[in-house]
Amino acid sequence: MNAHKYKIIVLIIIALIFTLFISMGFAQPAQDESTTCITCHSLQGMGASIVQMWKDSKHFQNGVGCYDCHKAEAADVDGFEHHGKRIATIVSPKDCAQCHEQEVAESDGSHHAKGAQFIGSLDNILGEIVEGAAAANSGCRQCHGSIVQVDKNGKLDAQTWPNTGIGRVNPDGSKGSCTACHSRHSFSVAQARQPEACGKCHMGPDHPQIEIYTESKHGIKFNAVRSTGVMNLEKDEWVVGKDYTAAPTCVTCHMSATPTQKVNHDVGRRISWTLRPPVSIKLDSADVRRDRMKNVCLQCHAKEHTENFFTQYDEAVKLYNEKFGKPAKSIMDKFYADNKLTKTPFDEDLEWVYYELWHHEGRRARMGASMMGPDFTQWHGFYEVAKHFYNKFIPDAEEIQKGSTKDVMDSEFHKWKKGLTDEQKKEILDFYKKRYGE
Ligand code: HEC
Ligand code: HEC
Ligand code: HEC
Ligand code: HEC
Ligand code: HEC
Ligand code: HEC
Ligand code: HEC
Ligand code: HEC
Repeated sequence: MNAHKYKIIVLIIIALIFTLFISMGFAQPAQDESTTCITCHSLQGMGASIVQMWKDSKHFQNGVGCYDCHKAEAADVDGFEHHGKRIATIVSPKDCAQCHEQEVAESDGSHHAKGAQFIGSLDNILGEIVEGAAAANSGCRQCHGSIVQVDKNGKLDAQTWPNTGIGRVNPDGSKGSCTACHSRHSFSVAQARQPEACGKCHMGPDHPQIEIYTESKHGIKFNAVRSTGVMNLEKDEWVVGKDYTAAPTCVTCHMSATPTQKVNHDVGRRISWTLRPPVSIKLDSADVRRDRMKNVCLQCHAKEHTENFFTQYDEAVKLYNEKFGKPAKSIMDKFYADNKLTKTPFDEDLEWVYYELWHHEGRRARMGASMMGPDFTQWHGFYEVAKHFYNKFIPDAEEIQKGSTKDVMDSEFHKWKKGLTDEQKKEILDFYKKRYGE
């Protein structure tokens, strides 16, 4: 008997033992069609850890097997023959929708599903052109999602996959990637409820949500208790104020159930401003959205605390808008209209200064205020905004055109530049004398 035949016989024996083991050992074996997948993939080097993670999952307990997710329809361009079955590697929201229709519909209606549609944005010029395509593939698109391309043989194009970006455009036309938050192959809710599930993308200089959260009293409290079990992260139903009370995580505020609201996979339902553009605007039905958010806070805080918090937050956004965002934008708009700047973005210094002003510093100021991160509001936020507005943006604009900033600088907001009052100057001297004796 040659070595090859010997190997095959051993494989078959292992497969038989394994099948027996599965049918005896577990209450609800995966569907028969997945038995061969499991047998083969359990062997070392063929993805044994994938099988193990799946065995620890709710899917295994409920008899959902490999083939239920990976089977390909005849129309699926990424389908391929694999040991007698037609399968696809990508499992898209459309595949999950066979059993989770509602979650898929909610995700589909959210901004997350539109994540890959950023062509035309300044960020895209920066990523694709100023930096380069490979930077965009390993950077931007790993968060936002690629448009997955498939070759004639059903192979996934290496430029576009692996990729589990939030708005990935799948070969079947569906949008998004459920495994962006639910790590495969455990697909656990407990994991998705933790801030790190969001933090892969919601971080960094232009949207530091996880850093802000970690700095906030909410993050401090969550980290203090997360390993004690009081957060009940494993529970099927997870209602704030009922199943846990110690601290909110990202999803508590943006997705999860309250006694009167259901879980929802549209993360935008509870936010009333958009903090992303150069000037923040209120979204449609802002009051309804705000009430949904307040309803979360009120499970743990008093009414006055909640109302007053939102007064502080709204005022911080308006301050940024009126004092820095709108004036800077009006100067830029005029320069473009008068051809003082070329229509090519990022070829002039002022364009970088302005971009960082709203896209990095201005966002941090607003985002810090929205989620209780005072250091991001102040030192990473308004401080940087003010520093670059007064010392870089305005002087650079004056250099491009003398007098172009006069109207802005004459406004009430900026008249302090013309000199503080004697009383204000004396206050400063007194403060340092009292504190440090000089
Ligand atoms: C006879 C053994 C065997 C069986 C049966 C089998 N697989 Fe595989 N599978 C493999 C091996 C080996 C690889 C790795 C192939 C490679 O590296 O080119 C693989 C790769 C895969 C991949 C990744 C393909 C890629 O190139 O991205 C998926 C997904 C997959 N298998 C799913 C399944 C499913 C679902 C089933 C059951 C319907 C199944 N397999 C049955 C051996 C098997
Ligand atoms: C609940 C649905 C689901 C089930 C059940 C499932 N998978 Fe997957 N699998 C996925 C998803 C989602 C991906 C990620 C692919 C992508 O979208 O990029 C994936 C990816 C893979 C890959 C390729 C990615 C990699 O990391 O190498 C392999 C191989 C694979 N699955 C094998 C299996 C096997 C074997 C089983 C059964 C033990 C199984 N899957 C069960 C959803 C599932
Ligand atoms: C670390 C993950 C990550 C990377 C890398 C990343 N982004 Fe983003 N991007 C996000 C997140 C998260 C948001 C939403 C932030 C928010 O709402 O606070 C966002 C917002 C945006 C927006 C604003 C969308 C809107 O609706 O206003 C655009 C455009 C954008 N990104 C394009 C890009 C481009 C192009 C690149 C590469 C140059 C890039 N991003 C790199 C995560 C990322
Ligand atoms: C932005 C992160 C994120 C993405 C993307 C995501 N989920 Fe979820 N999902 C969660 C969180 C968090 C929970 C737990 C919510 C809770 O119980 O408080 C959850 C819960 C679930 C549940 C348990 C039942 C329920 O609704 O609570 C299912 C099923 C589910 N998700 C399916 C999906 C599917 C299918 C997709 C892809 C369309 C998807 N998820 C994409 C974060 C996400
Ligand atoms: C063939 C049906 C089927 C498919 C396909 C399927 N699931 Fe599930 N899923 C289930 C069942 C059944 C449960 C257990 C339901 C329960 O506990 O209420 C479940 C549970 C879940 C949970 C909750 C896990 C937990 O820890 O409570 C998540 C998250 C989830 N699925 C995500 C997905 C994602 C993402 C996909 C696609 C990649 C997918 N499922 C594909 C049937 C399916
Ligand atoms: C205590 C509740 C709470 C927690 C915890 C929380 N957020 Fe928020 N989040 C808010 C509020 C309030 C807003 C502003 C809503 C508004 O504008 O009306 C917001 C706004 C946002 C925005 C919108 C930014 C934009 O571009 O408009 C994103 C994105 C976000 N949060 C993500 C996260 C992430 C990721 C986490 C965890 C790391 C998190 N949030 C934790 C309450 C919370
Ligand atoms: C894989 C990357 C990724 C992950 C993981 C992710 N997000 Fe996002 N999120 C984005 C991107 C990109 C956007 C901006 C999409 C756009 O507007 O084009 C966004 C937007 C948002 C928004 C603004 C929605 C709106 O309607 O304006 C909220 C809120 C949000 N995410 C919350 C969360 C929460 C909470 C989690 C974790 C449970 C999470 N995200 C996980 C990438 C991600
Ligand atoms: C699950 C309970 C829970 C939810 C939901 C919750 N918080 Fe908190 N919050 C806390 C806890 C606990 C602290 C920390 C108190 C301390 O350290 O003394 C806190 C602290 C704060 C603080 C810090 C200031 C202070 O009083 O010390 C603010 C502001 C705040 N929360 C606002 C909100 C807002 C606004 C919402 C809704 C968007 C919200 N919280 C949702 C539990 C919650």
